Amino acid sequence: MSQKPLPGFRDFYPDQFAERAHIFDTWRRVVRRYAFQEYDGPPLEPLELYTQKSGEEIVTQLYNFTDKGDRAVAMRPEMTPTFARMVGAKAQALRKPVRWFAIPQLFRYERTQKGRLREHFQLNVDIVGEADVLADAELLSIAIEIMRAFGLSERDVRARVSDRRLLNGLLSHLGIAESSWAAVYAVLDKLERQPREVSAEKLAAAGLDANTVDMVLGFGTLDFATVAARYGDAPAVREHVERFRQYLAYLDALGVAAWVQFDLTIVRGLAYYTGIVFELFDNVGEFRAICGGGRYDNLLKSLGGTDLPALGFGMGDVVIGELLRSRGLLHAVPAAPAFWVAQSPDTGDAPQAALRTARALRDADCAVEFTLRSQKLDKQLEAGRKADARAFVIVDPSSAEAPWRVRRSAHDDLVFSSLEALVAWASMPHESSHE
Ligand code: HAM
Repeated sequence: MSQKPLPGFRDFYPDQFAERAHIFDTWRRVVRRYAFQEYDGPPLEPLELYTQKSGEEIVTQLYNFTDKGDRAVAMRPEMTPTFARMVGAKAQALRKPVRWFAIPQLFRYERTQKGRLREHFQLNVDIVGEADVLADAELLSIAIEIMRAFGLSERDVRARVSDRRLLNGLLSHLGIAESSWAAVYAVLDKLERQPREVSAEKLAAAGLDANTVDMVLGFGTLDFATVAARYGDAPAVREHVERFRQYLAYLDALGVAAWVQFDLTIVRGLAYYTGIVFELFDNVGEFRAICGGGRYDNLLKSLGGTDLPALGFGMGDVVIGELLRSRGLLHAVPAAPAFWVAQSPDTGDAPQAALRTARALRDADCAVEFTLRSQKLDKQLEAGRKADARAFVIVDPSSAEAPWRVRRSAHDDLVFSSLEALVAWASMPHESSHE
């Protein structure tokens, strides 16, 4: 038997679990500030939920099998189809806009590499029922606020943003046939990673003339002001430029404009996006995307539900964890006991007084540990030091004046004459009493 988990899967020992908990806690803290409610769905879904709705890439990465009831099923590779199904099924009854979040564990059979595993946890934040671009601005501001909450700034991370409607308008204005758009999307998506000649060949193969090929290859360098000045009056583009201008104005008012960069090469691999799309990246370009999302106005309807506009993003725990670690911003450690209860003197009797004390402190919500066998006092204290206990409670039933002593450092014993007094003190909100 191997001692290791499967490739791309992780064991979370308490040290790693503490880091994961820090990431989850930060996600929940920020998203709740935006008044989102938490939900979850099944980790196993009908295979067709993904073969029809996710992008081609995800479908090749599915963990799928036939279950004992002969159903074709897959472990969820993303949350969006489940979310769309769940909202679609109760769309009438739900207050709009729906503002929900989840932290599912997802499974994709990827080539494992830095930032890419075969399971990951992904914060999903989604809004349903609002077509206005203010919803897009609100959504992106959440992703950016999360970066801030982790201690990152606009010097560390930027949001690269595009709009598929604007891009389509540009392609149409440049006379590119709609049948070639998918090929152009694929080239833009790989523009940074693929040699220029390869991109040019692919565009030529899709039927673009040399001049148009050059224009598309230059999309990566266009800022929004240039696009607006150059194409803002074109009928196919005008409305989309105006909408994007409004989006930027809202982002500015929400206090996140400094993080945002217009970038036509952000198209996103998933098939269902229809409008503004974005990804967050570290500024050094060291890591893969921290987060990605956008508007997907047709997905609910295409899953057989009500026709409602929707938008959202997913942020994985792997890349953000790597980024925080590399910047020295991930310090989470497993919780140590608040109190280590020891009994003295060593009578050889069962430590009844220590157990009663532990019980009373635990009732007061304190994290308490003690040695799980009768031991000499110095052994008990040594075990407590190894556990990094924040304070010791030494119980001495034979002492009339000081039956309970609390020791936080070598020279500051506090003395209590009753268990009630000890518990009252431990319940006070001072640093070392509570978990
Ligand atoms: P996605 O771009 O496939 O989008 O994933 C979002 C984020 O999840 C990525 O930016 C990355 O941080 C993380 N991620 C994805 N795959 C892996 C992996 N194999 N290992 C580690 N991290 C990974 C979606 O999944 C969309 N459903 C997000 C969404 C929600 N769109 C709208 N609502």
